[in-house]
Amino acid sequence: MTFAPHSLSQSWPLPSHPRPIVTFGAGSIVSDAHFPAYAKGGFPIAGLYDPDQDKAEALADKWGVKAYATVEEAAAVENAVFDLATPPGAHARVLSALPDGAAVLIQKPMGADLAAATEILKICRDKKLKAAVNFQLRFAPMMLALKDAIAKGLLGEVVDFDVTLALDTPWELWAFLEGLPRIEIAMHSIHYLDLIRQVLGDPKGVHAKSIGHPNHRMAQTRTTAILDYGERVRCALSINHDHKFGRKHQACEFRVCGTEGAAYIQLGVNLDYPRGEPDILEIYPKGGSEWVSVPLDGTWFPDAFVGRMANLQRFAAGEDSELVSSVEDAWMTMALVEALYASNAAPATPLAERP
Ligand SMILES: NC(=O)c1ccc[n+]([C@@H]2O[C@H](COP(=O)([O-])OP(=O)(O)OC[C@H]3O[C@@H](n4cnc5c(N)ncnc54)[C@H](O)[C@@H]3O)[C@@H](O)[C@H]2O)c1
Repeated sequence: MTFAPHSLSQSWPLPSHPRPIVTFGAGSIVSDAHFPAYAKGGFPIAGLYDPDQDKAEALADKWGVKAYATVEEAAAVENAVFDLATPPGAHARVLSALPDGAAVLIQKPMGADLAAATEILKICRDKKLKAAVNFQLRFAPMMLALKDAIAKGLLGEVVDFDVTLALDTPWELWAFLEGLPRIEIAMHSIHYLDLIRQVLGDPKGVHAKSIGHPNHRMAQTRTTAILDYGERVRCALSINHDHKFGRKHQACEFRVCGTEGAAYIQLGVNLDYPRGEPDILEIYPKGGSEWVSVPLDGTWFPDAFVGRMANLQRFAAGEDSELVSSVEDAWMTMALVEALYASNAAPATPLAERP
C-alpha cells in the first residue's frame, strides 16, 4: 500500500464563530499552553480569575485581558466558554459557580480520584454543562495523524501498544503535587491511558506497580502497567521519570503495531519540558518495505490545545456532533486510573517456596 504522508489529517477544524474564553487559574499551564494556543487558534480571551490576584493581574497584563476579582464575576461573563486550569481539588467548586448549560473545558485530572470524578460528573449532569476534560493529547498533530493512519488501514488490526518513557521530569515545576498520594498515573500517564482508550477501547482489567524513588519524596514517579485486552491485543506501559543520566538513552515513545503495519512516535515535549524536542511520527505502512517519516504541522504543546478548544466550541455551536473526551467518557479514563491504583495496592502473585 502506498501512502502520501501529507495526506494524514493533523488538525481539527476551527469553529466558524469563536466565542470568548474565561480561564480559571493563572498557573504555568495557562501561560505555557492555554493562552498561546488560544491566540494561535484565533480564540478571543476575555479574562481570567485566580485567587492569587497578583499572579492573575500579571498574566492578564501580559495578554491584555481582564483579571476578575471573584469566581462569580468570571462566571458571569456573557456568551463565554469557560476554561478550568485549576488544581484537581478546585474543579467542583468552580463548576458549581458556572451558569447552567455553559460550555466548559476542565483540566485533567477530573478530580483527585474516582470519587471526585463522580462528584464532578454529577455537577455537570445536574447543570447540563457541555463539559469536556482537557485530555488534549488526543488532538496532538502526531496523534490525529496516527488515528487517521489506523482508520485508513495502514496498520491493519492494531495488536500492540507500547508506551516507553525513560526521562528526567522536572516535578518541582508543579509545587501543588508535593505531598499528594497519587502522582505518576493520576497526573502524567493518564494522558497515555486516555489516548490508549481512544484507540483500543476499555481494557478488561489491569495489572500495575507504581513507585517512588529513593532520590526524592514524590509519591510515585515510576510505573509499570499491563492493560489486559484479551488474547489478540497486548498493551504495556514502562515509565521511568528518574532516568537522569544524560540525553543519550532517554526516551519518550509509543510503538503501535498492527497485523500489517506499524507506527513509531516520539513525544518530544517531555524530553525537555516545557521547551521540548520535536515530535516524531514514522509509519511502516501495510505493504511497504520501509519506515516513512510523516512531516508534522505542529507539536503537542500548544497545538493540541487549539484542537481541544475547537472541538468544544464547535460542539457547543452544533458544528461537531461528538464532544471528544466529554466528562461522560473522561470518567472512564478516571475509572482506568482507579483500577491501576487498586492493582498497585493488591499483592502480586507470590512465588512458591522452595520445598
Ligand atoms: N493537560 C495537560 O497537559 C496539563 C499539563 C500541566 C498541568 N495540567 C493541569 O492543569 C492544572 C493547573 O496546572 P498548573 O501547572 O498550571 O499549576 P500551577 O500550580 O502552576 O497553577 C494553578 C493555579 O490555580 C490557581 N487556583 C487555585 N484554586 C483556584 C480557583 N478556585 N480558581 C481559579 N484558580 C485557582 C492557583 O492559585 C494557581 O495559580 C492542574 O489540574 C494540572 O493537573 C494539565
